Amino acid sequence: MCTAPAVTIASSDLRGFLDLLRRYRPRDLIEVSRQVNPKFETAAILTKFEQSFRFPVLLFRSVAGSEYSVVTNVCGSPGRLALALQCSVSDLPKVYAQRSAQPIKPTIESTTAVQERVFLSSHVDLGALPQLIYHMDDSPASYITGAIVVARDPENGKSNLSFHRLMIRDSNTTAIFMARGKHLHRIYQKYESQRQEMPIAAFIGVHPTCSLGALYTGSADVEEYDIIGGLRGSALPLARCVTNDLNIPAEAEFALEGFVPPRERVEEGPFGEFTGYSSGTMLVPTFKVEAITSRRDPLYQDILSGHAEHLLLPKLSMEYELLRIARDVAPTTESVRLTLPLTAFLSLRKMDDDEPRRVIDALLANDIYVKQVIVVDADVDISDLRQVSTAIALHVRPDRDVSIKPHVPLTELDPAGDPRDGLTSKLGIDATVKSCSSRRITKNQIPQHLLDSINLSEFVKAE
Ligand SMILES: Cc1cc2nc3c(=O)[nH]c(=O)nc-3n(C[C@H](O)[C@H](O)[C@H](O)COP(=O)(O)O)c2cc1C
Repeated sequence: MCTAPAVTIASSDLRGFLDLLRRYRPRDLIEVSRQVNPKFETAAILTKFEQSFRFPVLLFRSVAGSEYSVVTNVCGSPGRLALALQCSVSDLPKVYAQRSAQPIKPTIESTTAVQERVFLSSHVDLGALPQLIYHMDDSPASYITGAIVVARDPENGKSNLSFHRLMIRDSNTTAIFMARGKHLHRIYQKYESQRQEMPIAAFIGVHPTCSLGALYTGSADVEEYDIIGGLRGSALPLARCVTNDLNIPAEAEFALEGFVPPRERVEEGPFGEFTGYSSGTMLVPTFKVEAITSRRDPLYQDILSGHAEHLLLPKLSMEYELLRIARDVAPTTESVRLTLPLTAFLSLRKMDDDEPRRVIDALLANDIYVKQVIVVDADVDISDLRQVSTAIALHVRPDRDVSIKPHVPLTELDPAGDPRDGLTSKLGIDATVKSCSSRRITKNQIPQHLLDSINLSEFVKAE
């Protein structure tokens, strides 16, 4: 059972969600009316808030060089994700798991907000979008960071959604980074092996449930539009693209339609990545944009790379998937947390001393974004770095409990990885208390019923 939602007003698109914030979490939305510079300034304002432990949505009404308002950090706090899913923050993992297991098919609409304006061929101008630049070592070319790309698998006809950063090269071309081994990259390989173009559309400006569903990391056979329907609790309305037969959310703010040609590579980067570092340039495919469609007065959604929103957004789906994999080999796994980049903390009530190693092997084998796995007992709070570090210090004998997997693929964004072959090594640490110890090791505990019965005001004089 999920906790009853605090708010029961649904919203289905980005602007509806912003209205919900204005009403129920007004401190979460800050509108900036003065003109800001797209180079560094939007990033600097959000960073300054983050440095004071505030994570608001920022709505920049005037960004120099573009007619469009920019909204950033929409999904940058657990409280906002909970508002979007209409549940409490503590119920987020459970609600994500329950709803994504109950997919709902989308509908196709004939009248669509995202196609109120249509720019075709020579009227396509990516230069009209806000030209945002974030970090000092980033490429001088600006990036689109809030785009969700849809493509169709040519073999099984299933469509796939995923976020992809797009580096603007000219009025109708971007570079597109597709991580090796992920679904879009595999789909592209299928088109490329037939020397065919891969049709895609990239939509920008959506309700948080769309963003969360696009990041679903399960089987390639699952359509993410159905997962979004499940998360919303109702079918997602879709629009057919103007220039190809892909579908995009009918209530998105913008859509770019076009294709990725085979065997064409361009230099992309440097770009401040989710790790908090940039890792040089890469050769990546291009995206030829044949149409831009939008609402009449579109809001341009942005994500500040490597900051709170970027790290928070994929957590729910990745933790859900890793928990599923872990429970396949260790059913008593309690929870998985991705608190740091490339790092999974996992707690379990182990059945035997070999179980942590089995679960480490399973997680390290599975995901290109998991470089180290640390397993602790269930009484360690894995959202508390101090408790995890203490468990490592106290319960690990490195020669026995640390395992290294050499020469395995990881994300090309790992700053320590070898850019030539994409291989790196991975690390597993079993920080559970060993039952084979010759001493009886137990954690200091005080009876819970006593703790619960004590009222400190009894011992402290009123001021
Ligand atoms: C803000 C943001 C930006 C991302 N940018 C990229 C990117 O440029 N390239 C990429 O391959 N994955 C990127 N990702 C990760 C993918 O969207 C994510 O791994 C997705 O779940 C992959 O989908 P799949 O499981 O269908 O392969 C990004 C994720 C977020 C949240």
